[in-house]
Amino acid sequence: MRIYITRAIPADLTALQALAEVNIWPQRLPPSQQVLQAEVENIDGLLCLLTDPIDAALLEAAPRLKVISQMAVGYDNIDVAAATARRIPVGHTPGVLTDATADFTWALLMAAARQVVTGDRFTRSGQWQTWEPALLLGPDVAGATLGIVGLGRIGQAVAKRAQGFGMRIFYHSRQPVEAATEAALNAEWVPLEHLLQRSDFVTLHVPLTAETHHLISSAQLAQMQPTAILINTARGPIVDAAALYEALKTEQIAGAALDVTEPEPIPLESPLLTLDNLIITPHIGSASRQTRETMAEIAIANLIAGLKDEPLPHCVNPMVYQR
Ligand code: DGY
Repeated sequence: MRIYITRAIPADLTALQALAEVNIWPQRLPPSQQVLQAEVENIDGLLCLLTDPIDAALLEAAPRLKVISQMAVGYDNIDVAAATARRIPVGHTPGVLTDATADFTWALLMAAARQVVTGDRFTRSGQWQTWEPALLLGPDVAGATLGIVGLGRIGQAVAKRAQGFGMRIFYHSRQPVEAATEAALNAEWVPLEHLLQRSDFVTLHVPLTAETHHLISSAQLAQMQPTAILINTARGPIVDAAALYEALKTEQIAGAALDVTEPEPIPLESPLLTLDNLIITPHIGSASRQTRETMAEIAIANLIAGLKDEPLPHCVNPMVYQR
């Protein structure tokens, strides 16, 4: 059997190499679609990252492919419907990155609220000349109201951390979660509009789907308070970047912190990069050493299961197993 891995990953490949010939794209940047198309021609298994578009045309080019394993929890880069039509199971890595991503969401929230990045720039540029009563003021986090859009694993982990800050928590999701979960997290389901109007901090934790694409656009930003801060560690296209630029530029909202952008990487000429009330990081929400190692291990375990015709431990399209 033959395997293609689209980037070097932090995992022990011995078990995989005992099963198959393993080829790894050696460069830091992703393989082009042309390279990928040629590489998948004779492979049985593919291990990919969220930067690799796995579309119907690519699947067409891979007649032998029997498993796709993505080293990420999100899989919006993969045409799952096309894979399912070919009965190819698609694996992903849920659960293991929940804490790392929730921690990072809090890092961004705190940094945006308390001007950590601006303060660092201020210091390095030689502007720190004395202690000033009104220097780099930000809102209080303790006791503030947090609005969580999407109360899945990561949203819940963010809410758990908010308990320590004595925050009031609103959340919005298609359906309210179980009453016991709401009670444990002290979180109240509200319509999105209500959440946007009443939250000091709004944080996004929904997957990217047709329904959540530009979920936060001009109308939603207009509903937020002028003191509010928006955090996105989910997927870039959930926020309409042009609308966000206008809202930040005109101080319709106070600030934002994005770990994800549309497109990724954000082009250096993006007007967003001219704003001082915005923090942008390069999609590193899950980037703790241990988390990335565990993600890689799970991705390998999914791949091996697929090669052996066993059910994937974490499969996004289990319907492929229905007879
Ligand atoms: C994911 O897993 O989907 C994150 O965006 C990267 O860890």
